[in-house]
Amino acid sequence: MFQAAVQTFSVSAAAASVYRGVFLVGFRRYCKKTSTKLRVSEALTGAEVGADVKVQGWVRSVRSQKNNIFFHVNDGSSLKSLQVVAGAEMNDPLLTFGSAVEVTGILKKSPHQKQPVELEAEQIRVVGGCNPVDFPFKIKERHSLEYIRQLPHLRCRTNAFSSLLRIRSEATAAIHSYFKDHGFVQIHTPIITSNDCEGAGELFKVEPSGPDFGDDEEFFSVPAFLTVSGQLHLEVMSGAFSRVYTFGPTFRAENSQSRRHLAEFFMVEAEISFTESLKDLTKVMEDMFRSATERVLARCVEDVDLFHRHVTPGHRDTVEAMLNKSFPVITYTEAIDILNRSSEKFTFPTDWGCDLMTEHEKHLVKHCGNVPVFVTDYPYDLKPFYARDNQDQPRHTTAAVDLLVPGIGELCGGSLREERLDLLMARLKQVGLEDNYSWYLDLRRFGAVPHGGFGLGFERYLQCILGVDNIKDVIPFPRFSHSCLL
Ligand code: 4AD
Repeated sequence: MFQAAVQTFSVSAAAASVYRGVFLVGFRRYCKKTSTKLRVSEALTGAEVGADVKVQGWVRSVRSQKNNIFFHVNDGSSLKSLQVVAGAEMNDPLLTFGSAVEVTGILKKSPHQKQPVELEAEQIRVVGGCNPVDFPFKIKERHSLEYIRQLPHLRCRTNAFSSLLRIRSEATAAIHSYFKDHGFVQIHTPIITSNDCEGAGELFKVEPSGPDFGDDEEFFSVPAFLTVSGQLHLEVMSGAFSRVYTFGPTFRAENSQSRRHLAEFFMVEAEISFTESLKDLTKVMEDMFRSATERVLARCVEDVDLFHRHVTPGHRDTVEAMLNKSFPVITYTEAIDILNRSSEKFTFPTDWGCDLMTEHEKHLVKHCGNVPVFVTDYPYDLKPFYARDNQDQPRHTTAAVDLLVPGIGELCGGSLREERLDLLMARLKQVGLEDNYSWYLDLRRFGAVPHGGFGLGFERYLQCILGVDNIKDVIPFPRFSHSCLL
């Protein structure tokens, strides 16, 4: 067939160039299998000019001129889209903003500075049409986070939310890398559990549903809930592996519409054995924060820039300041003194023994130079049964620590754990839990060591480094009270 194609060449000089064009297109079609399928990011950065490639994605803009059409294709591999240039005869009424396309052609050096290459189309296939009148996003419009939040099934098609999801993915990898590099073993702690680790009663109950089960019938022999923390299971594992962590979904039935709370969020938790000092914990928290943030800033330059330039201008400086200074440490008692000396009028009380509210946490962060600050040694009565008793008088405290960050307030909560059997038994008895936690007491009976750990709210971490005000804008599918589920 190839030979036959060559033999059809005419000797006429004028016709020769026409034939050459037809021949080349025909030849490329004949060799169609050689088109290399590329992600848009690969086409923009790694591919050679002249390469015969195929890209698949969604149209982000379309412009028609007399002789040509220009459109941008994005496949989620980068914030940037690949410009496609095609002859006007290749236009298709279905080729609209939002449609899904497959384009085959040759990568050419672009005459424009903004992009290194563009794709000269030889074949365009509209895989899925998109009616631009009904499509809720409009070409060239910048939609607010509030607007796109109402479209959880479509918002990943916007620049801002796709950037966010790439950053989220990179931050996840960075956190796993940090722990792997520091000798931690990852544990998949259970989602369904019978314990209420935090003891706050903000639990979702798990019950079977279906013809095999009666109303209120227990599936397990005890009431079961969605986990509020993997801590107690990590404590089990820290008794064999010394350094363990988990990173997974966590559930709290908080009836809150706040910009910092979700009913389902992701928590990073670590547990470290043979540690007798809160300093060992704060070092891991600070190192992990720095290491993850530096990696995200280095690897997601354009995506982070979109947030720091257009969504929260100026936030880059806050992040740089966080990375350049070490995190100060103050005790809860010092924190209360700072609040009481402040001229700011707080809505909630600031007496010793009261819980620190978001307004207090934000004030403390500002007071310390708008960098993350550790607050240690909280009142004994404020912390759950597992927190280690400092046995101090008259102000009775526990070896607990929270990390407060700019714009958010509490990002991490942790403590040394009560490893002394007698003290732990007494505390469990005091809160009426001694029967539920006999297995937990066993951990103190058999080879117990001083240990401690912490939990970091992953969505709050993303809010903190990107400056995003509402937690619902940093998770793919937010779950909160009275929301409709997708
Ligand atoms: O302070 P918390 O409740 O600590 C624990 O659960 C410990 N058992 C963790 C541990 O020591 N292993 O929660 C830890 C962090 C908080 O600092 C906050 O960032 C986040 O989890 N968090 C939430 N994030 C979003 N929505 C909610 N409803 C959250 N509740 C807590």
